[in-house]
Amino acid sequence: MDIRRIINENQNIPYMVRNIARSPDEAFPTLTAKIKLTWRCNLRCRFCGLWRYSEANDGPDAITLELVKSILTVLAGRGLRKIHFSGGEVTLREDLEEIVRFACGLGLQVNLTTNGTLVDKRTARFLVEHRVHTVVFSVDEARPRRHDALRGVAGAWKRTWRGIRRMQARREAKGRGPKIAVNTVLTRHNIDHLPDLFEMLQDNGIDSWRLLPVRTADPEMRPTAEQWARLGPRISRWAPLVGRRILDLTCAGNPELAAKGLYADRGEALTCLAPWFSVFVDADGNVLPCCTGRKRIPAYGNVTRQPLEAILSSRIRRELCASFASGHLFEVCRSCDEFLQENSLLSAAAVFASDSRAGPQTLPRSPGE
Ligand SMILES: C[S@@+](CC[C@H](N)C(=O)[O-])C[C@H]1O[C@@H](n2cnc3c(N)ncnc32)[C@H](O)[C@@H]1O
Repeated sequence: MDIRRIINENQNIPYMVRNIARSPDEAFPTLTAKIKLTWRCNLRCRFCGLWRYSEANDGPDAITLELVKSILTVLAGRGLRKIHFSGGEVTLREDLEEIVRFACGLGLQVNLTTNGTLVDKRTARFLVEHRVHTVVFSVDEARPRRHDALRGVAGAWKRTWRGIRRMQARREAKGRGPKIAVNTVLTRHNIDHLPDLFEMLQDNGIDSWRLLPVRTADPEMRPTAEQWARLGPRISRWAPLVGRRILDLTCAGNPELAAKGLYADRGEALTCLAPWFSVFVDADGNVLPCCTGRKRIPAYGNVTRQPLEAILSSRIRRELCASFASGHLFEVCRSCDEFLQENSLLSAAAVFASDSRAGPQTLPRSPGE
């Protein structure tokens, strides 16, 4: 989602952000949402707990097709601009095409993340035909064996790249199609190999690259402070492939904090606007402001038991908004890089709105953006 464009198009948003501290209850458009369609996954990534959770909680996906449609319909009515589908592995859902078609039909920007190993010709075709905006593939290493060791399944790297090439071939045949992005989870094991991966992604026509600092309770999985410090100067060389310049804002500037997993901690009071502009629904149906908060902050409610409208006006959500508006965030928020860019732009817009007295304004670019 291009948050800058949304702010520039909707001149009320900066004023709404400015009012949040005074009236945390005030209506705010849900600009972005993420739905985890399933916990099931065919890979066994070392840094991911979701497949373990899925193995322990076997059963059909709680988020049925009908539920997904009703969630999207409600959110579209609240101003939703972007929906991101993730999992688990979304391509394990047999109704993925219908879900994607429905979301595109609502005029939403539709993005999804996949490990790509199950992207066959049929999947590649419907992702191109239905006007999906971005398909994000997960690639952690340029070398197959190293990637497979992190992903826990031999042959994963090869199958992921086969999926990427199928998407690219289909897009080329059609003359248009989704942007193809790559996510890389930054761990102690791969962070020093990123220059090779950058070369590979560039040589293979990848449109953008997102670097995700690993979220884990295992300190051995996290890069060390020295590794973060070495990464800092490299990142600017990887622009424009690294579209989200989040590491400029956080880890690279604070290697010691990043080594502790405190990716959002800049030594000042934390603020986050996610409870206002974002909704996250997990594969059990729990509704929260963000993916990071799963099991760490109270869910507003559960869509398998209550209507989404009721959940979004529930006491729990109002309490959470009031708490965030007064600067009381959760411990997990210190380790969250999920919305750093959105938060920084929305906050800048609010300051800009209070400074400007003249008519319509355009948010200026900030240094390093
Ligand atoms: C949970 S996965 C689900 C999508 C898909 N199965 C995949 O592997 O890409 C969504 C994204 O989160 C990343 N991810 C998984 N575990 C993570 C962790 N512990 N910290 C940060 N990112 C993680 C994955 O690499 C992927 O890009």
